[in-house]
Amino acid sequence: MQKINSLDRQRAIYLDGAAGIRQRIPFDPALLEQRARLGMRPEAFAYIAGGAGQDATVRANTDDFGHWRIVPRMLRNVEVRDTSLALFGKTFPAPLFLAPVGVLEMAHPEADLAVARAAAKLGIPYIFSNQASVPMETCAAAMQDTPRFFQLYWSRSNDLVLSFLQRAEASGCSGIVVTLDTTMLGWRTRDLELGALPFLKGMGIAQYTSDPVFRRLMDEPDQAPATKPPITWSAIQTLISANRKYPGSFWANLRSGAGLRAVRTFIRLYSRPNITWTDLPFLRQHTRLPIILKGILHPDDARKALDYGVDAIYVSNHGGRQVDGAISAIRALPDILNVVRDKAPVLIDSGFRGGADVFKALALGATAVGIGRPYCYALSIDGQAGVEALLANWMADFDLTMGLAGCKNLEEVRAAGLKE
Ligand code: GLV
Repeated sequence: MQKINSLDRQRAIYLDGAAGIRQRIPFDPALLEQRARLGMRPEAFAYIAGGAGQDATVRANTDDFGHWRIVPRMLRNVEVRDTSLALFGKTFPAPLFLAPVGVLEMAHPEADLAVARAAAKLGIPYIFSNQASVPMETCAAAMQDTPRFFQLYWSRSNDLVLSFLQRAEASGCSGIVVTLDTTMLGWRTRDLELGALPFLKGMGIAQYTSDPVFRRLMDEPDQAPATKPPITWSAIQTLISANRKYPGSFWANLRSGAGLRAVRTFIRLYSRPNITWTDLPFLRQHTRLPIILKGILHPDDARKALDYGVDAIYVSNHGGRQVDGAISAIRALPDILNVVRDKAPVLIDSGFRGGADVFKALALGATAVGIGRPYCYALSIDGQAGVEALLANWMADFDLTMGLAGCKNLEEVRAAGLKE
């Protein structure tokens, strides 16, 4: 694992600059997004950047950090600092992790595998997406001892859920992150505008097509009426893509119809809006891994989660992709922490764009922060190297912010508080 020394990193960047070498991954989050956009297909950028409705939640997620201010303290000898965090029996080098993001093949051909390798290089934990482009086993094999988690969408088939759980355990995952807020896809204006849903092209369904239970389910008769789209060039391309993405030979898949059947089976199983709290014990009975509930925004839901014995709460509004006009994650955090107190770790994502945001969440009482879109943009610009650079930058930024605020470690950050 590569250790990051923030001053060395900063120095190296300036020395590069002095030699006329500019960094490939922009430091300014808006510039990062802009640069990524230039190199991405419109559907890819729309899928990653887009939020629900008018993007009001996306904006609130970043704007609401402005509600709090850091009040730096002086003359506290911050020469030796420690950003490490102990969580779920592991030690993380920083209070950071890579949040699950689906369909990364839209950003870069190496997709999740490039991210897994970058995460391992820096020792930053990675939550494998349920909608990944690379099966979890492949990514896990690239991560050695670096902690990883599996993000679960609770599908219509409990057999499939169990199979995913078993595979996550066998892949050395340290926990199951159950995403609660996406039992249906939100009203994603940018994707709708382009009429583009990557799953229809067989993208982002690698956890499914690599799964023995899913493959069995593909053979069950589909009750949904077969809709025959008009035969256009785009429809043919969609068909080609679905068969190309399905494991095995393209021609064999085309002949057997496997690619299309996989997409139809995924559509049939994905959405499960009828899950309730009383389904949770099913998960508890079937895995020994910590269960982390992602998508909690209301303190009463946090209380319920604790009542159901979950191991951690994950505050998130899915990067603003689900409910337009929803409370920002950072705004939701204090009330949730009031309920949870020290009974469970509280993770958070949605809207974080740098070290100061991370500092604020920790000063409010969060345990660790998930990075989302920024690493996808870095991936699209420079693959694994891009994600490595982004992670190193975030680690350096957080460490410097912490030290300059007068804190030597995460306990001191927590004790520092913020000014409203
Ligand atoms: C699915 O996870 C999505 O947010 O698109």
